[in-house]
Amino acid sequence: MPDPLIRIENLVKRFPMGENSLTALDNINLSFQRGEFAGLVGPSGSGKTTLLNIVGSLDVPTEGRVTVLGKEVGNLSNQDAAALRNHHIGFIFQTFNLLPVYSVFENVEFPLLLQKAEPARRREAVMQALEWVGLADRHDSRPNQLSGGQSQRVAIARAIVKNPALVLADEPTANLDAENSHIILKIMERLNRDLDCTFLFSTHDEKVIGYLHRKIQLEDGRVTADERFRPSREGEE
Ligand SMILES: Nc1ncnc2c1ncn2[C@@H]1O[C@H](COP(=O)(O)OP(=O)(O)O)[C@@H](O)[C@H]1O
Ligand SMILES: [Mg+2]
Repeated sequence: MPDPLIRIENLVKRFPMGENSLTALDNINLSFQRGEFAGLVGPSGSGKTTLLNIVGSLDVPTEGRVTVLGKEVGNLSNQDAAALRNHHIGFIFQTFNLLPVYSVFENVEFPLLLQKAEPARRREAVMQALEWVGLADRHDSRPNQLSGGQSQRVAIARAIVKNPALVLADEPTANLDAENSHIILKIMERLNRDLDCTFLFSTHDEKVIGYLHRKIQLEDGRVTADERFRPSREGEE
């Protein structure tokens, strides 16, 4: 077995609450291989976002060790954490988080500007990413001219334009109707397969759960179940 893409060991996260603290994650142990399509499933408040934020190096563990692509996120400088995110991790949010004053093209281009990529490469990568999500013809539109489903497809293009090893998606269908939820999941499934990109979701949406290859149940900051429905790519070899 190669080293996992993500290794989480004895992870505890506490948030200060007045004189006490709230334990959001309580001794989590998990690893994810490259190519997984996995979901954190649990009710609101169970710790899904907190866990994704730590894996995405947006937050740090209180205790324990989280290693992403061989880097221990709790020990990174701000600059190294930013470099890990900019080059290797794509983010998709429940509320899409597109920048309203920019065009679709510019929104998708943004991560490549952070990487200081050359204009010709940016243009090619942005149009390719927009084609993957079926929105190349909307590159000139503004976010407010798009439906929710289209907005989330732009957000997916923005997440994958840098060809990341890992995409983290925090309740990506929470603001979408059933039809658009299925469209989004099918796009992500195809990107997982064709780009060999690892996807880690959080969700409590039943429609999403049916697509997962692995379902990790979180309750009160603990893993209460970890089920695989299809072998991960490593497992198939
Ligand atoms: N920045 C924070 N400060 C204090 N408490 C927080 C913070 N972020 C999350 N929490 C608490 O941690 C617990 C887990 O939250 P969260 O990870 O957002 O759960 P979920 O995404 O599953 O709804 C909740 O009790 C929440 O109120
Ligand atoms: Mg959440």
